[in-house]
Amino acid sequence: MTAPVRRDPRLVPLSHDHHVALFRAREVVLAVDGVQPQEPESLARHLAAFFDGELVQHFEAEEQHLLPPFVAHVGVDHPLVVELMRQHAEIRTLAAALTDGEGDVWERLKAWSTAITAHVRWEEREWFNAVQEALTEDELTVIGEALKRAGPSCKV
Ligand SMILES: [Fe+2]
Repeated sequence: MTAPVRRDPRLVPLSHDHHVALFRAREVVLAVDGVQPQEPESLARHLAAFFDGELVQHFEAEEQHLLPPFVAHVGVDHPLVVELMRQHAEIRTLAAALTDGEGDVWERLKAWSTAITAHVRWEEREWFNAVQEALTEDELTVIGEALKRAGPSCKV
């Protein structure tokens, strides 16, 4: 087994957002299991507002600050670059469908929750580690300062 990679402190603000996103995704699981019953339309509105008001800024921070230097090192066709953009696009579509989609609201909520949870785990286990390995110290410092200036995208 390979040793876990320590998260670079300059990327920690993004990991903080991830914790909030996992917490929101868990709200769907708790509602589905009956632990924290919720009315599905109101939960869908609440999570759509979280996405539009907070998590979308986190996506943009990753796309603006991390992605360009990463692409400069590994190339635009690298599987992790393609996968990142695929997952962000999929989640944007699922988030829009929370309030505007067709069919059962619970199914749309579960699809969003499952995608968010898998996405956060993938970024933390795969993409952030690759970013830390590919980027120079100077590049990581520039990112860290930009993230500090912007503040957290997601509120606890
Ligand atoms: Fe992320």
